[in-house]
Amino acid sequence: MTRGDAISLIGFMGAGKTTVGRELARRREWPLFDTDDTVAARFGLPLAKVFECHGEDKFRAAESDALAEMPKRRAIVATGGGIVLLPKNLQLLRRLGPVIYLETEEVILYERVSVERSRPLLLTTDPRATLSRLLREREPLYRAAADFTVNTTTLDVSQVAEAILEYVG
Ligand code: S3P
Repeated sequence: MTRGDAISLIGFMGAGKTTVGRELARRREWPLFDTDDTVAARFGLPLAKVFECHGEDKFRAAESDALAEMPKRRAIVATGGGIVLLPKNLQLLRRLGPVIYLETEEVILYERVSVERSRPLLLTTDPRATLSRLLREREPLYRAAADFTVNTTTLDVSQVAEAILEYVG
């Protein structure tokens, strides 16, 4: 399979995919694409409403379509935290180019996502437990999908971007 040179960012909600994506886009002077934005635009609704009105399965199908349409050249692709759930997405990610996992400690993820309260999957009676369970389920999937992992715990956005650019060369 020929792989492109688009840099994809994967990782849990709150890992900083969009923020790091912006920094990479700025440094490379490449456009940034975000699968969440593409899906929201396709439905003409914010993501929370997409989940509410159409359900998670429709969201996942649209997310996979969005991934399939991402450019394979000179682009940064930020993905939603659940992109690794559909096996076919792993193939689509690999085709785009290097896949980077932003690994972040659970406590930090929880701090970040609990401030925003915008994630439909965490609107449960015990969001802390939900986060913990989802992270345990997904961690091996992120690892399997990634070419390179950056542990972001002690790094700022600019250091994370540097580590990624050093890896991709
Ligand atoms: C999801 C993560 C969200 C968004 C949707 C589902 C998930 O993206 O795609 O709410 O399943 O982890 P972020 O990771 O950008 O928050």
